[in-house]
Amino acid sequence: MIWKAEYGSPIATSAVVRDVEKRSKQEVLEYFQAEDHPDGLSFWRGLSMQDRIFGLGEQTRGINKRGWHYESYATDDPLHTEGKRRLYGAHNFFIIKGKGSEEVLGAFFDDPGSVVFDFGYTRTDRLQVVVKSRSVTLYIVTGSGLAQVVSEFRQAIGQSYIPPLFAFGYQQSRWGYQREEDVKEAVLRHRQFSIPLDAVYLDIDYMERFKDFTIDSGRFPDMEGLIRQLGEHGVKLIPIIDAGVKVESGYRTYEEGVERGYFVKTREGEVFTGGVWPGKSHFPDVFSSEVRKWFGSGYQELIQMGAGGFWNDMNEPSLFYSQDGLDKIQAKAEQMAAHPEDGNLFLELQVMMQSLANHPEDYKSMMHCWDGTTIEHDRVHNLYGTLMTKAAAEALERYARGERRLLFSRSSYIGMHRYAGLWTGDNCSWWSHLKLSLQQMPSLNMCGFLYAGSDIGGFADDTTEDLMLRWLAFAAFVPLMRNHSALGTRRQEIYQFAAADAMRGFVKLRYRLIPYLYSEFVKAAVHNRMLFWPLGFVWEEDERALSVEDQLMVGESVMIAPVYEQNAAGRYVYLPEDMLLMEYDANKETLSVRLAKQGDCYIEIGLDRMVFFLRKGHLLPLADAAQSTEDMNRRHLTVYGYANGEARYSYIMDDGISALPKEPLERTLHVKEQREGVWKLWADKAPDGSQELELEPGELL
Ligand code: GLC
Repeated sequence: MIWKAEYGSPIATSAVVRDVEKRSKQEVLEYFQAEDHPDGLSFWRGLSMQDRIFGLGEQTRGINKRGWHYESYATDDPLHTEGKRRLYGAHNFFIIKGKGSEEVLGAFFDDPGSVVFDFGYTRTDRLQVVVKSRSVTLYIVTGSGLAQVVSEFRQAIGQSYIPPLFAFGYQQSRWGYQREEDVKEAVLRHRQFSIPLDAVYLDIDYMERFKDFTIDSGRFPDMEGLIRQLGEHGVKLIPIIDAGVKVESGYRTYEEGVERGYFVKTREGEVFTGGVWPGKSHFPDVFSSEVRKWFGSGYQELIQMGAGGFWNDMNEPSLFYSQDGLDKIQAKAEQMAAHPEDGNLFLELQVMMQSLANHPEDYKSMMHCWDGTTIEHDRVHNLYGTLMTKAAAEALERYARGERRLLFSRSSYIGMHRYAGLWTGDNCSWWSHLKLSLQQMPSLNMCGFLYAGSDIGGFADDTTEDLMLRWLAFAAFVPLMRNHSALGTRRQEIYQFAAADAMRGFVKLRYRLIPYLYSEFVKAAVHNRMLFWPLGFVWEEDERALSVEDQLMVGESVMIAPVYEQNAAGRYVYLPEDMLLMEYDANKETLSVRLAKQGDCYIEIGLDRMVFFLRKGHLLPLADAAQSTEDMNRRHLTVYGYANGEARYSYIMDDGISALPKEPLERTLHVKEQREGVWKLWADKAPDGSQELELEPGELL
């Protein structure tokens, strides 16, 4: 059951697309007390000792979000430490689950300004949400179970974005491949080392002085040729586009934007200027559909050259500085120079320097024109990245001739999940960030974001070989499997490491898993389910499962239990039921299986091993490894099954690139064998040849 109540003058964010019944505020009182608060409109309720809270999408901390306070205010903060309260996205949906069979409550606070979630932080027995603007549409979702509440909410916000098949392949990025040769070399070396690869990324260095929609012809003399050549290796090129447009006379996007009044303005009606990678920049006012169309037309050239898609960056929008901020710092520095005896001035200057970036006053000074109506930026801050990405999605629809292309963004609001995915921004090469990534995935899925991933190996700081191995073993199950790292950090392409063979082995396993991952992904999108499930969402009656923070179900058949600690020789795993333990040897590229009993167990997992589990009564279709998704044979499957009598698997088989029909091509793999056992079976015939494919009897393992 989903319904809504409105407070103040809520903004139409388009997050929810289904018609939802409107009820009186009185009815909300059963769930939340609404009252005035110095910081906004407050909604609170008591928390029992047993209440768990899930959701909030891209945020810091665990799967159970209880015990901290978070803020939805999209922020470019490259240090995702535990003390932080905001990251790049704003995903205001959460679920409260009490003990036993009590009703599960979901709530979505649909407002694109600042919203604070205090989940038992100020008082452990109280949950409080404060909406700064005092205007919000509150959606109440109730149901008998966690999965049901998620699916009800997901139906209301509309079907998640489904990227092309190649987006499930392995992808290599680096800030920055400076020249065409660097890109070619990266691809070539992957091929030389037989490391599968589907995409390579261009960071800001391909542009002329970081100007959107330009190509530095000195360093990238033939972009179209490059895209074609990479294509011959089965590799797509994915360029970055940033939100800020460089202020530079003669630069077309800048000139046009100024001339037509398409950039964000200040309260005084001047064009707003903020500093980002290109230096002084203006920001397209993507709240206007006309501006989106114009900004989107910038993508046309690269789309038509055959770029596989785009990653949209810096779109919180990130502001390194504003002119106003710089002026104040300069004045303070001059004051300090004039009064060297005053030590406080130094401290004041230091504080000003530290708070120069993403300064609240700068955001407050920005104004948008939302299809005719002027609105303060602060009021709609969290929608900026979403609308920038909408401009790109609309451009892809216009120019990509019915083909699916890859699109993901750094900043997002619920609603963007319908046309793009996201990556979780500038993580670090830290073990804690591997764990954070694991914990973010299910939370993102609850909010509609299925196509997501973190920078494998970590973006900032130097990675280590063992972290890369463990991260790859986890990321083999993550839809966006991209290795990306920052300028100046240790090179972390797989071929840089002595353990390249084992790393390659993990990537090869990923390709074997693609038939399963793609099927589970498409089904999760079409049927409004999650791809990554915390165990408690599957075994809701199992208190122990509900508190597991470091294992996940991936789709219906597979449970993962990644190792995320340095020097760990293995880990404890909780099995809610008997399962088939599958152990992959990444050097030998072999899978072995054994039964694992319900309960807790310790499993040794060497650095070159990956252990995952197959649920009883479910099947796991695997392909043969391939060098790219283009080379994959998705019709020749090896199917593992821990069959509990009969078992079926609904397999998605399409061309992976055409716009997806509303009803995807689901085919059923069917094991008729009635005997219980662990099976390795074959589906040699094309599963799209018939509605249902009975698997050939195989080995009993
Ligand atoms: C931002 C992005 C990062 C990118 C860098 C340079 O920090 O999050 O992924 O590499 O900008 O463009």
